[in-house]
Order: sequence, then C-alpha cells, then structure tokens
Amino acid sequence: MKKWLLNWRLFSLFSVIALLLAGCGKPFLSTLQPAGEVADMQYSLMLLSTAIMVLVIIVVTIIFVYVVIRFRQRKGEEKKIPKQVEGSHKLEIIWTVIPILLLIILAVPTVSATFKLADVKPMNKEKRDKNIVVVNVRANLYWWEFEYPDYGIITSQDLVVPTNERVYFNLKASDVKHSFWIPAVGGKMDTNVENKNQFWLEFDQKATDEAGGIFYGKCAELCGPSHALMDFKVKPLPREEFDQWVEKMKNAKPVVTDSVAKEGEAIFNKSCIGCHAVSPVDNRPEQARTAPNLANFGDRTRIAGVLEHNEENLKKWLKDPDSVKPGNKMTGTYGNLTDEQINALTKYLMSLKVE
Ligand code: CUA
Repeated sequence: MKKWLLNWRLFSLFSVIALLLAGCGKPFLSTLQPAGEVADMQYSLMLLSTAIMVLVIIVVTIIFVYVVIRFRQRKGEEKKIPKQVEGSHKLEIIWTVIPILLLIILAVPTVSATFKLADVKPMNKEKRDKNIVVVNVRANLYWWEFEYPDYGIITSQDLVVPTNERVYFNLKASDVKHSFWIPAVGGKMDTNVENKNQFWLEFDQKATDEAGGIFYGKCAELCGPSHALMDFKVKPLPREEFDQWVEKMKNAKPVVTDSVAKEGEAIFNKSCIGCHAVSPVDNRPEQARTAPNLANFGDRTRIAGVLEHNEENLKKWLKDPDSVKPGNKMTGTYGNLTDEQINALTKYLMSLKVE
C-alpha cells in the first residue's frame, strides 16, 4: 500500500475515534466535568501534568526541527565532516536541571493533594461528630451494599448521600477484589477482601443538578463475566432531604395492600427472603446478607443495576437473571417461577418504597 494512503487512513481512524470519545463527556459520568471537591483537585492535577507534557513536546519539537534544518547536509558538502565535540557541561546541566524543576512543579501539588485526599481522621475519631456521614461500602459479585452505621440502615445499588459536605467511606469486598468508582466525583479506590480502605468524596449540589440529580458509579476492577455490568447509581440530596430520607428508611415497613402484590409477598417470603431483606434495618451479620437489600426497591433507578427501572425489565430479570448478568449469584436459587408468580413478585417488589 502506498505510504500516503496508509497515513491518511490512520489519520482518519484517529479522527473518528477522537470524535467518538469526545461524545463520552456526559456530566453524570465524566472525569472531565468534575462534580465535587475531590474531582476538582484531581482535575487540576490532570491539567497541570498535561500542560507540562505539552510544553515539553512543543519545546522538543521546535529544537528538533531547528536542528534538522540548520545542520542538514547541503549540496556540495557531502564529504564535509562537521566539527567534532565531546561533552558539554553547559548542555548537560541544562537538560538535567530542567526535568528536575518540572518534576518538582508536578510533585509539590500532587503530594499535597494526596495528603488532603487521604485525610480520613474525622471518620476515625473515637467519638466522631454527629454530623459526619459515613457509608460502609461492600462490593459483591455484581452488586453493591451501602450501610450507614450511624443510622443503622442498609440499602443497595442506589447510594444516597448529602451534597456540599464531605462524605466518608469504608470500602471492602466480600468475595473478590472490586473497585469503587464514581467517575464524575472522584478517582477510584479498590475494595478488598483482606483489608478496609477509606476515603472521602464531596458531591456538589450545582453539579448534581446539571447531571440530572444522579451520578453513575462503576466497578473498576475486572472481577468476572459481569464486571462491566456491576453498576450503581448515586443520588446526592440537599442535607435536609437526606435527613428526611434517613428517617423514612429507619421507619420503613413494607405495606402491601394490592391482592396480587400480597401473593407476590407470599412467594417472596418462601423463595427470596433467605438472601434478600426488605427492611433497611437488617441486623444480620454481613456474611448472612448475601443479596441486595430491597427495602426501597420501588424507588430505585435501575433493575439489577443496568436495566431501565420498569416492570417489564424486572420480569425479564426474574425469569432469567443470567441473560442479564452472566455469572450472577441469583440464577438457579429459587427454582422455576410461572409467569403468574413472576407477575405477582413484580407487583410486590415494585411496591417496596420509602419515598
Ligand atoms: Cu466488580 Cu468489576
């Protein structure tokens, strides 16, 4: 193939990829649209390091082009051997000192931000401030549990947090290594089986509004066939609304009036309740909590973390979970349900609301 044609093809390919990737910048998911204190800090570091790299590329390119032109072989001088030099203290000092300076410019803000981002002292105080919100995040093969130890409530899949304040997280996993990541709000952190990681995030109210009230969360550690489907959502609320939500969760009890939903409740109590709790106040030890808490299932934004939240998708999930999330732990645990039973279960689950 002609060289220019190959180059042209590569150029076109990169242009298309750049265009496609540019379309990925959604405010609810993009690190390039920071939505809180942590994301802001990390974004500034990204800009700084990018600026330094671009500067280096520009300077090196200019020098390179200058040298190529200035010292090219000219007509009639094919035999000429240029003056031979060996070593130059001046040059060696310049190209040693400049990179050191650049690294210092990078290191000072990076190290200082690292310490700020790792400051979890307020959550670990013997008697921590009542106003501090702490969430225990537990990652499981393809679902997330969010426990609020100070309020005695548990939810899953949809994380609810107050805006405009630091929220502290204890991160761990119950089976394999996962990674907790809300791209728009801050960098990821591993959830491990053998230790507890801690960090904090801040969710900006204005950015939340711009993102439509919800941020997307992802698992960022390859954990199995449904790793890419291990999504969660974050609903940041103004502090007052958050407090109201906590109160509602504390007092939530499923009230089933519809007769079909009642049938569903009976099926649930026979086949599902061994793993799924329907009260946010679940005092069982975490080893016993082997499936997402469903107390506010009707308020959720997704079915199984990935499907639109509607009855049709819930039925699809109940009928054949593996077709939605390959390798999930629910498949095969509750036998075959008839369409009628699935219908009743769906009515019951959708009626579980606290809001
Ligand atoms: Cu969990 Cu990837």
